[in-house]
Amino acid sequence: MFRNIKASALLLVGISLSLFGQTPRAVYLDDTRPMNERVEDALSRMTVQEKVAVCHAQSKFSSTGVPRLGIPELWTMDGPHGIRPEVFWDEWSQAGWTNDSCIAFPALTCLAASWDKEMALLYGKSIGEEARYRNKNVLLGPGVNIYRSPLNGRNFEYMGEDPFLASKMVVPYIKGVQQNGVAACVKHFALNNQETDRFGVNVTVDDRALYEIYLPAFKAAVQEGEVWTIMGSYNLYKNQHCCHNQYLLNDILRGEWGFKGAVISDWGGVSNTREAIFNGLDIEFGTWTDGLKTGTSNAYDNYYLAKPYLQLIQKGEVGTKELDDKVRRILRLAFLTSMDRNKPFGSFGTEEHALAGRKIAEEGIVLLKNKNNVLPIDLSKTKRIVVIGENALKKMTVGGGSSSLKVKYELSPLDGIKKRAGAQTEIVYARGYVGDATGSYNGVVTGQDLSEKRSADELLAEACTLAKTADYVIFIGGLNKSENQDSEGADRLSLSLPYHQDKVIEELAKLNKNLVVVNISGNAVAMPWVNKVPAIVQGWFLGTEAGTALAEVLVGDVNPSGKLPFSFPVKLEDNAAHALGEFPGKDHQVTYNEGIFVGYRWHDKQNIKPLFSFGHGLSYTTFEYGKVSADKKETSAADKVTFTVDVKNTGKREGSEVVQLYISDLKSSLPRPLKELKGFEKVSLKAGETKTVSFTIDSSALSFFDADKHAWVAEPGDFEAIVAASSTDIKSKVGFKLK
Ligand code: GLC
Repeated sequence: MFRNIKASALLLVGISLSLFGQTPRAVYLDDTRPMNERVEDALSRMTVQEKVAVCHAQSKFSSTGVPRLGIPELWTMDGPHGIRPEVFWDEWSQAGWTNDSCIAFPALTCLAASWDKEMALLYGKSIGEEARYRNKNVLLGPGVNIYRSPLNGRNFEYMGEDPFLASKMVVPYIKGVQQNGVAACVKHFALNNQETDRFGVNVTVDDRALYEIYLPAFKAAVQEGEVWTIMGSYNLYKNQHCCHNQYLLNDILRGEWGFKGAVISDWGGVSNTREAIFNGLDIEFGTWTDGLKTGTSNAYDNYYLAKPYLQLIQKGEVGTKELDDKVRRILRLAFLTSMDRNKPFGSFGTEEHALAGRKIAEEGIVLLKNKNNVLPIDLSKTKRIVVIGENALKKMTVGGGSSSLKVKYELSPLDGIKKRAGAQTEIVYARGYVGDATGSYNGVVTGQDLSEKRSADELLAEACTLAKTADYVIFIGGLNKSENQDSEGADRLSLSLPYHQDKVIEELAKLNKNLVVVNISGNAVAMPWVNKVPAIVQGWFLGTEAGTALAEVLVGDVNPSGKLPFSFPVKLEDNAAHALGEFPGKDHQVTYNEGIFVGYRWHDKQNIKPLFSFGHGLSYTTFEYGKVSADKKETSAADKVTFTVDVKNTGKREGSEVVQLYISDLKSSLPRPLKELKGFEKVSLKAGETKTVSFTIDSSALSFFDADKHAWVAEPGDFEAIVAASSTDIKSKVGFKLK
């Protein structure tokens, strides 16, 4: 009886709707329905041709939707630091739009150096708003590949040498992006730790290092960040390209981590149809027909997951199960992005975003050394500052590969210093050396004429003459975004500063005791002059507001609080990969012989003193740590333990300190690093203020990955919790037991 009433009621609704010309909305279009119902409904309506079509690009940065069903195209765009300007349909060169000049945020090494999860959220939210406004559905970033060697050209795009730091900083970035209805796309999955031979190198790494060092940030992105897309990397692992890799994509990403999102290839990273079908790839993006070689333009129908795939299905050589799975993930991505009717509208090129970038820069700049408190510069007592170095004025937002940008503006360090000094202090500039005089990438030009006729000697002589008469000399050098510097596609050739900058710095150090060296880079560099220079600042690629942030730190408006996200080795051989002779490998093979001993883990193991340690960063104030205590002497696998420590600002001005927690397993059945980062908290303290910082950990922070058991294991025994201000600046320890 009841059922009849229900049926007739539904019928009545149906008729009345059709009377008023409204047919009931199809399930897939009804965003009040559960996601999986919508997916299945849309899938059931698609033809096999339409299903194959959504699995590959239709243009440089877009893939087709289903026009017949009103499912929109999917628009992706680089990059991790800002929204790349528009290119032509099937070209890398500029489309010449006049509405796509963006705000450039600091490079991700700078974000990592802030050790501030709120900055990561602010970063993701801001760049996500820019992507949303530009109607992009997928932002091709962030990158989280681990800093294995200081020569890797793309380290500036990533988050340093420690998996815990990268894991904690990538999650808020993803959340911030995706709250705009834009998918983040964490890259490059996985083991993309060099640019040399990046399309063909096969990485051999033991499972322990894979799971403890190279995967955690990706796993956090998936399980905590709930990232909607992942980008496969160009390189190979177990002799399979990572863009279609059974082990990484099927077994680990989906099998072990439960990733529900879509896997997209790196551009041209696909080279095998059957592998692409069966090994977990969803959308093939790229550069012409056969992967990485040139081919006829607009060859998207010839992509590996295009006609070749359709033909295999039509010949009955492969089924459509894998295809349906791909399409389900692509539809889900569409419902989360292009078809989300409630997503915000974003904003673009705003002062708010410039301010966000500036804040992140202020928090990420690292004061490496400050002997005799040369810094901060008191402008009221300073008549003349000489600024020397090409990086004081060279634009850094153009170049470096796919993260290159066309910006609304970029305030150079020199302009920032001049602006901040105003009329009260004279700022004089000398180039000091010639580095990279180019200033264009993919047709975007900086507009700077950096051509130089004078010889190196003349440039040095000019700098030295000026240095003698200055109250302060600020040398601003480092690397840049050109080939073999901090750039995609090639690695650095040496740890040393290029362009004979060491000589210039040595000469300046002889002439002025108030010499400040600012290293603008995304990588560690050698500093043979480190004992001759009183003040050293690590200024990253800081983006649109670079000059403002740097000037604020140099004159003390901002108290620096950044900490290094990677170690600065004294010499290249102090780095594990280079000590063991496996960078960048040869004959398309590279073996990560150092295993888990990457970065400070290696320095601790080999008792090597780094030039500057992971987690190192000074302040214009001072901090005093109390003794760390544990809330229990014994914990268990199912239990947690909390450590607390008081930190006091013993200086005269407010400052922030990043309190770091490392865990040391005093006895283990397998070799373990001396200690590993398992917690950090950035606290702001007024002069004289004390705060109690606490860290609560569970047994996962005590575990290591046992490859034989293929499982994380926390072995009972003695452990130590170490509170530190860097990986070598230990403040106090407390022992505890795991039952
Ligand atoms: C590049 C990069 C990748 C970028 C993509 C699109 O080769 O490896 O990070 O997002 O292609 O430009």
